[in-house]
Amino acid sequence: MEENKIIRTIGVLTSGGDAPGMNAAIRAVVRSGIYNGFKVKGIRKGYVGLLNGEIEDMTARSVSDIINRGGTILQTGRSKELMTIEGQQKAVNMAHVFGLDALVILGGDGSFRGAHDLSKLGMPFIGVPCTIDNDIDSTEYTIGFDTCCNTVQDAIDKIRDTAYSHERCSVVEVMGRNAGHIALNVSVACGAEAVILPEKPFDFNTDIIKPIIEGRNRGKQHYIIILAEGIGGAVEIAKRIEEMTGISTRATILGYIQRGGSPTPRDRVMASLMGTKATQLLKEGKYNRLVVRRNNQITDVSVEEGMAMKKSLDEYMYEVNNILSL
Ligand code: F6P
Repeated sequence: MEENKIIRTIGVLTSGGDAPGMNAAIRAVVRSGIYNGFKVKGIRKGYVGLLNGEIEDMTARSVSDIINRGGTILQTGRSKELMTIEGQQKAVNMAHVFGLDALVILGGDGSFRGAHDLSKLGMPFIGVPCTIDNDIDSTEYTIGFDTCCNTVQDAIDKIRDTAYSHERCSVVEVMGRNAGHIALNVSVACGAEAVILPEKPFDFNTDIIKPIIEGRNRGKQHYIIILAEGIGGAVEIAKRIEEMTGISTRATILGYIQRGGSPTPRDRVMASLMGTKATQLLKEGKYNRLVVRRNNQITDVSVEEGMAMKKSLDEYMYEVNNILSL
């Protein structure tokens, strides 16, 4: 890391999948950045906009009335060009053209990998974890997770109403890429009969059919099976359940409703705290770090440490889920 780099102007961008609370984080970065004496510029469409020079000045008023809005006012993107060394050099050059001394990256692990690459070419950054997946190991929380789980819970509660009325089984596929954190949390919250996660090997007969049949024998009249996106195949699984059990079964793939919507208080508060921490770190001359939540505190780790491991499942939550789904 280069030492004592003087940072006067920072650029903020949102990258990868959008997450509810990103706007609250942009607001926090812009306002705390100004408070800490920086000039703040907004970069549109993530790294795509950085490469194209879609960069504009931001003021405290640019971020009025956005704390409650889902999505990201800066828009987001995924850039293949940034994966090449030529693209990375181009991005750093463009940052210099617009006088950016450091970047604040609001996104997930892929976005931080991109920022890490740029930092090796001399562009300092701070990463703020924003992804509905909550799959970044170094932080207990990523902005967007709570809103997403609320949306999924609301959807599953509605599916349960109709599953009960028709004595059906519902297979519900939820997002999370290759991580089962959303699936496991909503499984506990919604009392699902079974949850199928990418982190856990599963056997169709033992882990899906058996709990359904045993539940029926105990008097259950409807069943919710939650399937993580990383497993996939909800329609096929529903068909097989119906064939094997004779229970009318439907598949629902919740899809992109999980990424939208007004952020919950938790996401707005986390975004405000983490976004502010990002500019405070820059003010202290710290960079190439990730803002993280650990032991109920907002703190920071080096990007190397922050990206080193894959986040594991909460095993106790998994155990509780199995006990209570009886
Ligand atoms: O990372 C957030 C996420 O919503 C994942 O859960 C999902 O796998 C992915 O983004 C979908 O991304 P895309 O916008 O490319 O379809």
